[in-house]
Amino acid sequence: MSDLHSDLDPADGTRAYDLDRAHVFHSWSAQGSLHPFVVAGAHGCEVWDYDGKHYLDFSSQLVNMNIGHTHPKVVAAIQEQAALLPMIAPAHANLARGEAASRILAKAGSAFGKVFFTNGGADANENAIRMARLTTGRDKVLSQYRSYHGNTGAAVVATGDWRRVPNEYSRGHVHFFGPFLYRSEFWASTPEEECARALHHLERVIVSEGASSIAAILLEGVPGTAGVLIPPPGYLAGVRALCDRHGILLILDEVMSGFGRTGTWFSWQHPDINQDDVTPDLITFAKGVNSGYVPAGGVIISESIASAFDDQVFPGGLTYSGHPLAMAAIVATIDAMEEEGIVEHAAMIGRDVLGPGLLALAAKHPLIGEVRGTGVFWALDLVTDRETREPVPSSTIGELKGELMARGLLPFLSDNRLHVVPPCIVTVEECVRALAIYDEAFTAVEN
Ligand SMILES: Cc1ncc(COP(=O)(O)O)c(C=O)c1O
Repeated sequence: MSDLHSDLDPADGTRAYDLDRAHVFHSWSAQGSLHPFVVAGAHGCEVWDYDGKHYLDFSSQLVNMNIGHTHPKVVAAIQEQAALLPMIAPAHANLARGEAASRILAKAGSAFGKVFFTNGGADANENAIRMARLTTGRDKVLSQYRSYHGNTGAAVVATGDWRRVPNEYSRGHVHFFGPFLYRSEFWASTPEEECARALHHLERVIVSEGASSIAAILLEGVPGTAGVLIPPPGYLAGVRALCDRHGILLILDEVMSGFGRTGTWFSWQHPDINQDDVTPDLITFAKGVNSGYVPAGGVIISESIASAFDDQVFPGGLTYSGHPLAMAAIVATIDAMEEEGIVEHAAMIGRDVLGPGLLALAAKHPLIGEVRGTGVFWALDLVTDRETREPVPSSTIGELKGELMARGLLPFLSDNRLHVVPPCIVTVEECVRALAIYDEAFTAVEN
């Protein structure tokens, strides 16, 4: 990999940092105190800075790079498409868009008929909500308090976390608590109790809100940013049954949990999550569909909802809907993931390496209160006391981040949690290296 560094100049790193601080306005931040990490390049599961120092990317850049950085087949596909047809208006057909849609539908299954492409995850949710409202003639959307659905009008108000509160401009959103046994809202002590009580709570919310006013329930397949909250067995089927009973559509947000992250193509296809073979009505996706090489997202639409718009105009659209560069990246990504067995690999890594490795860390480090996850989608809930489950303060998270970065690992930290979310292509050797770094960093913080 040293040839990748032949033209690295630390002065460029300084210039990148200075330009950023002078002119770039960042997401979700007070701008004055930012100190961004400057990345010069990346390949596979590693990124490096302008001094040539390498970091294991166990963040996947906002849980995005499922296929890893600079996969040669995806890079080549984007280059070829750029030379052929870099942009086309959304009304025109083009081969890359059709191929991308047909590949996505093949992964979702026969209940689904069409794909509407968007620029990312938020506008995917925005349009799924629009479709649900138009096809049901109802207004309200129910979503979980522990969720993130994006930063646009309806998506951010559907979000459950703090980012919703300063942005509550759109109407018709109601929230409920989903299952999370470790921090149960329902005084539950088993997954069965948590599941039954969470479903009872949801039904009470539906009835209290007026079932006939509710267009959709919007759920993350596995709530990701909120802490990788794998739903207990039976929960998804229970929500589906409530939807069916009350004529409500089920939208699953697979923006973070889709395209291999859980070791299945979609998290709702995971045998530990969906024992009853239920299907949603609409699926939203982004991120892993092409690992963000070119921004893209979309809505996978059931046959029945898609056909509702055969004669009725769909009042929504985007200049970049089905952008050819993004579509070429999707086709190459899905093909490469299939050819290289990347989804099966992610399942193996979770089962044989990360799962046991993280549990071994928890056995050694009292800071780790709970290990949750599957595939390459894990979170460690960090606590000051295992009995009370008191979350660690932000100062501990800051310290941990420093210790991990110093040892060459780029982490994903959220609230009191360390999320372990490498690309799906991560090797056993890279996981072993990362687990050793986590171990050392926890020891340093505990001391
Ligand atoms: C589950 C989920 N939905 C939606 C979004 C929003 O996606 P985007 O940032 O591409 O708009 C995210 C982003 O992290 C997400 O995790």
